[in-house]
Amino acid sequence: MSNTSYDLIVIGSGPGGYVAAIRAAQLGMKTACVEMTPTLGGTCLNVGCIPSKALLTSSEKYTEAKNHLAVHGVKVGNVGLDLDAMMAHKTKVVKDNTAGIEYLFKKNKVDWIKGKGSIAAAGQVVVEGKDGKQTYATRNILIATGSESMPLQGITVDEKRIVTSTGALSLSPVPKSMVVIGGGVIGLELGSVWQRLGTEVTVIEFLDRILPGMDGELSKTAQKILTKQGMKFRLGTKVTSARVEGDQVSLNIEAAAGGSAEKMQADVVLLSIGRRPYTEGLGLDKVGVKLDDRKRVVVDNHFQTNVKGIYAIGDVIAGAMLAHKAEEEGVVCAEMIAGQSGHINYDAIPGVVYTWPEIASVGKTEEQLKSEGMQYKVGKFPFSANGRARAMADTEGFVKILADARTDRVLGAHIIGPDAGTMIAELALAVEFGASSEDIALTSHAHPTLNEAVKEAALAVDGRPIHI
Ligand code: FAD
Ligand code: NAI
Repeated sequence: MSNTSYDLIVIGSGPGGYVAAIRAAQLGMKTACVEMTPTLGGTCLNVGCIPSKALLTSSEKYTEAKNHLAVHGVKVGNVGLDLDAMMAHKTKVVKDNTAGIEYLFKKNKVDWIKGKGSIAAAGQVVVEGKDGKQTYATRNILIATGSESMPLQGITVDEKRIVTSTGALSLSPVPKSMVVIGGGVIGLELGSVWQRLGTEVTVIEFLDRILPGMDGELSKTAQKILTKQGMKFRLGTKVTSARVEGDQVSLNIEAAAGGSAEKMQADVVLLSIGRRPYTEGLGLDKVGVKLDDRKRVVVDNHFQTNVKGIYAIGDVIAGAMLAHKAEEEGVVCAEMIAGQSGHINYDAIPGVVYTWPEIASVGKTEEQLKSEGMQYKVGKFPFSANGRARAMADTEGFVKILADARTDRVLGAHIIGPDAGTMIAELALAVEFGASSEDIALTSHAHPTLNEAVKEAALAVDGRPIHI
């Protein structure tokens, strides 16, 4: 047993775990964080949000230089691609971010215990590191071990030809063709990266629509725009097998409802059909921590599991698998362990798909409101009528606000358009504050900005937009 004992040991240093550890240390708890990979920051910083956004930004710049500068009167010569330099930029961004967490741990006096953590009993964490096993005593344990890519039966991932998001972040050279299995967030983001760099991308989606969790109108518009960019879609289709044959992958596909098989070939297959909680080797069965039917750790509204003193947050519990959701839970969980009260409004957590145009949502979709029998009003405003979007020559998409027909309270907001991911913050604040669409309409928005489309959509809820 180690001589050092802790108030809190966090297992996992993703955005849930590292944020919880820092907040706990701020609140005066002696805190350690166990991480088994060589760098801090979890999926998000190492192989998720950050590297994917680096590649999305870089590939967007490439497309812009190639196809979209002439309209602004900017002449460029032959635009070339230096994939190694693009990847080097991504690697540097990841390195700077993960090193940043190490700095924050030192600054806040959070100990990083290197190795794989498991729970021997409530109050006891065993860490297996390069020098063997060590047991640590702690008053509280927080499971923040995140998630991993969901496998598909019969398909073996080698991270070279058949890849998950992790392999898709490091392909070289640019593949000629790619089949993406799953038209969700990862499929569309990483599919966009490679499509922009010259790959012929076909998305195979089981359902009859892409982005199933999002507002239907947004999904339809996204598919139309991405199709125009060159991405191909096969909806209502399933992959029954994928096998590497030389330098190609051979796939068998068929209609989701069943039917005759069809063959496809691709240089690379990206498997992106969702993620599942990661709890391997934690010893949860031994300590009796309950999991639900999808193997997610079950917690109460204080993030405590059925075992006193053991908590869980982030991708390993139920809810959206988003970095900012994990962070919010990390902060609130640390505050609750310290005896404070915490607050998360799950209805006000935005979701953003970082394609171009971006796709962003907060609150309820129209489909949800219909199924709940809510009476609602819709206000919509297209970017084609927004002065700034015209100046940018980026006029695709719209803002859509859904408000309670009786009280005018904003229930949901959905944007597809340039910088939608940044613009959604205003609407998340509106949902969080319980604002009405009239509150947004009465707020002055600087001119000329993209955000004026939000104000106009709010005016449109009451049937009085000015510019359309
Ligand atoms: P994780 O970030 O998964 O961290 C868990 C950590 O625990 C890992 O470092 C792991 O090594 C460690 N660990 C696990 N078991 C043990 C153990 N026994 N001992 C020690 N360490 C252990 N979300 C967004 O909000 N925005 C985005 O743009 C976005 N982009 C994404 C892009 C991709 C390609 C992917 C895959 C995900 C993306 N996500 C995005 C989702 C986001 O990454 C996750 O929601 C988030 O990382 C979850 O945080 P977490 O702290 O719960 O777990
Ligand atoms: P996802 O849940 O977003 O999409 C998976 C898609 O695959 C769905 O459309 C689903 O219908 C489809 N599918 C499932 N089984 C299939 C099958 N057998 N054949 C064909 N299609 C099938 O999952 P994804 O894209 O893997 O992302 C995982 C998680 O990572 C998401 O929950 C998301 O929250 C997070 N993430 C978030 C990002 C962001 O916030 N910008 C970016 C990337 C990931």
